[in-house]
Amino acid sequence: MRHLAPMTLPSLQVSMFRRVPLPFPIARTPASSCSPIVRRSLHSSPSVKMSQKLKPAARVAGNRQDVWSIVNEAAAASPRQPIVNMGQGFFGYNPPEFILDAAKGALDRVECNQYSPTRGRPRLRQALSDAYAPSWGRKLNPETEITITTGANEGMLSAFMAFIEPGDEVIVFEPFFDQYISNIEMPGGKIVYVPMHPPKEGGSKTLSAGEWKIDFDELERAVTPRTKMLVINTPHNPVGKVYSREELQKIADICVKNQIIILSDEVYDRLYYVPFTRIATLSPEVEKITLTVGSAGKNFYATGWRVGWLMGPASLIEYVAAAHTRICYSSVSPLQEACAIGFEQADAHSFWTSSITSMLSKITLFTSVFDELGIPYSQPEGGYFVMANFSKVKLPVDYPFPPHVASRPRDFRLAWFLIQELGVAAIPPSEFYTDANAHIVEDYLRFAVCKPDEVLEEAMGRLRGLREFIE
Ligand SMILES: Cc1ncc(COP(=O)(O)O)c(C=O)c1O
Repeated sequence: MRHLAPMTLPSLQVSMFRRVPLPFPIARTPASSCSPIVRRSLHSSPSVKMSQKLKPAARVAGNRQDVWSIVNEAAAASPRQPIVNMGQGFFGYNPPEFILDAAKGALDRVECNQYSPTRGRPRLRQALSDAYAPSWGRKLNPETEITITTGANEGMLSAFMAFIEPGDEVIVFEPFFDQYISNIEMPGGKIVYVPMHPPKEGGSKTLSAGEWKIDFDELERAVTPRTKMLVINTPHNPVGKVYSREELQKIADICVKNQIIILSDEVYDRLYYVPFTRIATLSPEVEKITLTVGSAGKNFYATGWRVGWLMGPASLIEYVAAAHTRICYSSVSPLQEACAIGFEQADAHSFWTSSITSMLSKITLFTSVFDELGIPYSQPEGGYFVMANFSKVKLPVDYPFPPHVASRPRDFRLAWFLIQELGVAAIPPSEFYTDANAHIVEDYLRFAVCKPDEVLEEAMGRLRGLREFIE
């Protein structure tokens, strides 16, 4: 088996694994930084234990080990170094030259190194209005219908902060993007989960990711008078589904009837391989209750730039912008400018079409190893994740899984096993389901294919080692 030199392919290295940062720093109150009154009471009351004062708030103090740290731990413990990291959805290659040049150029301009308006740089809002017009059917008003955020993630936090009061319910489909959960819980929202169901034959046949379905009766039953928002993600992470127009219409009808705000997470909106519809464009009634989310990180292969946006009616965007102002005031200026130039020039560079062609070719290349091995997978309709079904892989009965992995659903054991035995990291998707529904995906693993072809080929070579474990 080939081993790649870490020097030439740093993206293979274990150091690329990271914990997902906490959304907010853990609050600390060291006595030395307290007011004199507080300090006196801390020291004078023996009943007040310092350790309690230093305790983090419950919202950031979850004690179950998250998937990212388990995968990190497995990677560090694996004898197969360096690991091929197909787990996290960061790109293994740079944004295109014209966008990098725009970023470098922006750094030389005085005004690009200072605060931007809290709603974002006018040039970027105008560029977004122009770039979205063909798929939206009209030009959004850059002054009132678009607001720039620090990545899509902070944009969604701003949306929940803007509309959720404690006890309000938010419908989230499983599997979910994990950051939704803390973002909803932060303002006191209650999440009501509705599972997506994989196709019944998903363990024996490769089928379109579109075969993952919502049960609309389950969705109707999830709606209560307290339902304030519904989150939808299309193209979908991790499933790769692009919701059909008919499915979106059914969801929209429920939301219009019950006056539920739709948060449509469309961060993969430039990577679709079947027709893609924006839910906001179904009708003026739907547009009036929809916030659409975008991400420069996903559009331009620059997840570290932290530039995102929310678009929707002025009556909703106004409050998202107000929350964003309180959370981080404004977003990174030179990279907003670079994104503006990116949108202005993308068509001239055929960037959107080449993005699709290149990602599709990565999907085709990588999934060919599953075809070879007879491992079925969900053929992505959009995005850059592939969900493969490992029900045919038999894990050795006496395999020494650590207890905290042995106690999790089978996909965690599969992920651990792949990292230890083959040196390939993938993500167990049951992390994106509630405990009650985790069994739905316990045979699946998620692979991110947004990596250089040589990394994909290395992963494929290693995955061939699964042959001896397939029945
Ligand atoms: C579905 C989904 N939404 C939002 C995000 C976050 O996007 P951003 O990096 O712009 O915050 C991600 C990132 O992985 C994602 O997969």
